[in-house]
Amino acid sequence: MTKGWTKTDWRAKPRVQMPDYPDQTGLKAVEAQLAKYPPLVFAGEARKLKKQLAAAAEGKAFLLQGGDCAESFAEFSADNIRDTFRVMLQMAVVLTYGAKVPVIKVGRMAGQFAKPRSAPNEVIGGVDLPSYKGDIINGFDFTPEARIPDPLRMLQAYTQSAASLNLLRAFSTGGFADIHRVHAWTLGFAEHDKAERYRALSNRISDALDFMNAAGITSETAPSLATVDFYTSHEALLLEYEEALCRIDSITGQPVAGSGHMIWIGDRTRQPDGAHVEFARGVLNPIGLKCGPSTTAEDLKILMAKLNPQNEPGRLTLIARFGAGKVGDHLPRLIKTVQAEGANVLWSCDPMHGNTIKAASGYKTRPFESVLREVREFFDIHNAEGTVPGGVHFEMTGKDVTECTGGLRAVKDEDLSDRYHTACDPRLNASQSLELAFLVSEELSARRDEQRRIAL
Ligand code: PEP
Ligand code: CO
Repeated sequence: MTKGWTKTDWRAKPRVQMPDYPDQTGLKAVEAQLAKYPPLVFAGEARKLKKQLAAAAEGKAFLLQGGDCAESFAEFSADNIRDTFRVMLQMAVVLTYGAKVPVIKVGRMAGQFAKPRSAPNEVIGGVDLPSYKGDIINGFDFTPEARIPDPLRMLQAYTQSAASLNLLRAFSTGGFADIHRVHAWTLGFAEHDKAERYRALSNRISDALDFMNAAGITSETAPSLATVDFYTSHEALLLEYEEALCRIDSITGQPVAGSGHMIWIGDRTRQPDGAHVEFARGVLNPIGLKCGPSTTAEDLKILMAKLNPQNEPGRLTLIARFGAGKVGDHLPRLIKTVQAEGANVLWSCDPMHGNTIKAASGYKTRPFESVLREVREFFDIHNAEGTVPGGVHFEMTGKDVTECTGGLRAVKDEDLSDRYHTACDPRLNASQSLELAFLVSEELSARRDEQRRIAL
């Protein structure tokens, strides 16, 4: 893909947000060990995802990307993986019904461990310690020992990712993901007394499934109703880990990140001449690029040229994260830059990272209404510009946590302390996630109706 690129080139570039390991000998040993381990994903899978993302960029598919802000060692369990996977499948069915196109399911899972932080240090009660950077780097406990970057954590992250992927692969094809089962769970949600608005849509999905059944299209006759493709993604922040898992695709001879199907570059690490862009530009995987209010047209132009020099469809997903009320200030100018360059990109909306506030109780939270408002602004602007709103990106969990406020079960500021479990940013809980899927589905189906009307 990128002639002359090698997986170590990033080391000569300015690095930000990455730890300086005091134990360099230990670091070298871990890197050597990881380099011998099998990759977690395979190049053919990354290429298949890229094709599907190319379809989404044209409006022929829709991307649903979601999962934890930060996976953690302490919260690792089969139940957690199952519950997040399940709610993502439910969301996908609801979105498919609205959009009438396939929904591409990509988890922030099986590798989403390393976190960029807005401050390098954290001060509590006058004590000043390095910030927590995610379980793959250091520990969450507020002690000097826990906050020392420990290379051995990379091995644990690898093992946890491998076990998570193993379970996700089994769930995807072993019967758990059958559309009839998935929809039956959604019917349960729609029975909630405040879910009237969503009951009608879920009944229509039931009708569609009943009709297909009567016409002989069942999980037995159409196995695609019983299985799903599920992909993994994470922010490629910890480049020692990424480099150690980089492999050569035996079919194309190109380098591939073996750590996850899709990797993304965060809003804090997208310097055009920085280490993170340098690493990502050389691997064949689909790449996400977070675009925030500080993304300039000039930088975006350089980044698109560096990350996708061949203008390959599906290669680059721009993940817009501006904050409710600010999308109109930034998205139109960046859409214009993309169009002026004739660049092939998929536009996705992350309505989480621009909407984090501090509640009176001190907890970091995100109001459901702000999340929804940003998604609607994203859709409205794409509709006005004649471009494609091709996906959404959520921080969410299948558990009944109280981290974001609002939603039909109305989590309030004073409820946040009840079940606030995130290792980093506040996540939508299962009910909020599914409710959002219903609302986005309505947007997608309105857009479809409008396009039909124009076509007449
Ligand atoms: C994230 O996705 O968890 C994140 C830190 O996002 P951003 O880089 O957009 O702030
Ligand atoms: Co986050």
